[in-house]
Amino acid sequence: MVNHQSAFDEIRAVIGDRLSQKDSDRDQHGQSETWHRAPPPDAVAWPETTGEVSQILAICHRHRCPVIGWGTGTSLEGHALATRGGLVLDLMRMDRVLEVRPEDMLAVVQPGVTREALNTDLRATGLFFPIDPGANASLGGMAATRASGTMAVRYGTMRDAVLALEAVLADGTVIRTGTKAAKSSAGYDLTGLMVGSEGTLGIITELTLRLHGQPEDVSAAVCTFGTMQDAVNCVTMTMQSGIPMARIEFMDAVAMRAVNLHSGSDYPEQPHLMVEFNGSPDGVRANAEAFGEIAGDCGGQGFHWAATPEDRHRLWEARHAAYWATLKLRPGATGVVTDVCVPMSELPGAVEAAAADMEEAGLLGNIVGHVGDGNFHTLMLVEPGNEAELSRAKKAADAMARRALEVGGTVSGEHGIGIGKRGFMASQHGAALSVMGAIKSALDPHDILNPGKMLPDRN
Ligand code: LAC
Ligand code: ZN
Repeated sequence: MVNHQSAFDEIRAVIGDRLSQKDSDRDQHGQSETWHRAPPPDAVAWPETTGEVSQILAICHRHRCPVIGWGTGTSLEGHALATRGGLVLDLMRMDRVLEVRPEDMLAVVQPGVTREALNTDLRATGLFFPIDPGANASLGGMAATRASGTMAVRYGTMRDAVLALEAVLADGTVIRTGTKAAKSSAGYDLTGLMVGSEGTLGIITELTLRLHGQPEDVSAAVCTFGTMQDAVNCVTMTMQSGIPMARIEFMDAVAMRAVNLHSGSDYPEQPHLMVEFNGSPDGVRANAEAFGEIAGDCGGQGFHWAATPEDRHRLWEARHAAYWATLKLRPGATGVVTDVCVPMSELPGAVEAAAADMEEAGLLGNIVGHVGDGNFHTLMLVEPGNEAELSRAKKAADAMARRALEVGGTVSGEHGIGIGKRGFMASQHGAALSVMGAIKSALDPHDILNPGKMLPDRN
């Protein structure tokens, strides 16, 4: 008897052959972008309405069957792996933009709409949605992981972008959190609670998102630095000077080599900053000049301006592809990727220590970062199955996370906890972790929603 077969039979009575127990479907929904591995889920379901999600959860609640939400499968800490078996709920058929209200600068979408699809829909409105993780992720998944990206320094993260949600709780109850108003001081912030809960408290079935006006003028540039430290010092000085950066991204020499190979560009293989300014033409010019002076003082050279929208698009596409481009530097390799975020003044020290840790691990890899937020990553390339390499990479990654905590930062700025960072939850949150546990127990008493993720196991 297959695990949870009676739950699957009941679900099939609701959605027919949109529930699959085929190996191919299970395998497709058991993959991870990084080194994390788990057996595939026992079944996959493709609901098309909130009502179906609600019925499915009610059944799983009764049968104690784990339910794992799934979007594009691009999370980096094993968030959507079925580590305890059960059902993967693939929400990508709920992919409609339900409403765009340009006058209110918001859109209402289903969870399977991707960030790029939403922006394509918004083109004629003069508005855009700025949150841009590397992957063309689903907006439901981005809310669940509190994603961010290159523009968070100016526009914030999914925390700031989500005004309201519809979510289905573990027992099938449908709730609405938040409103269409720009702010609210009515009651607990349940929207904020759901955003970043990684599918452990509910399944998001609708999102109301804050949009932004396309800036009148945009200007982007890359410049090189002799050392990583010079580049990072330039970032801290720029941010401390208050120049309103729309983007300020660091890429090390290895990342630039990968980007060149992947995108056919010919950037010098040196540390780079990639920057963007948004605003009025005068404002953009003044901000670019002010940044240019600071960069010059820090040894920045070889400014290349991306003059046309196409050039800019190519520049940011290359940045977004850096993760996969770097993986290709070692064919067949898998990635151990870190994601720490520290207070701005601690950034130079944290990056320097991370470089030393990576050096000690002796693995090919890169350092990139959304450095305007104090957020950076190392990516170390390991051979699948090579336990010695994996443990060296994990040792380096763990040291970075611990150091981030020591200087008042967080073990994740954007990738989230999943299974990869669970071990740090107690050190980061202390007694507050038991508050999180109490919330989880109250909302999901049978621990069916993405069990084994984010929070430590219950006793
Ligand atoms: C990036 C991903 C790894 O910044 O978060 O490229
Ligand atoms: Zn990132």
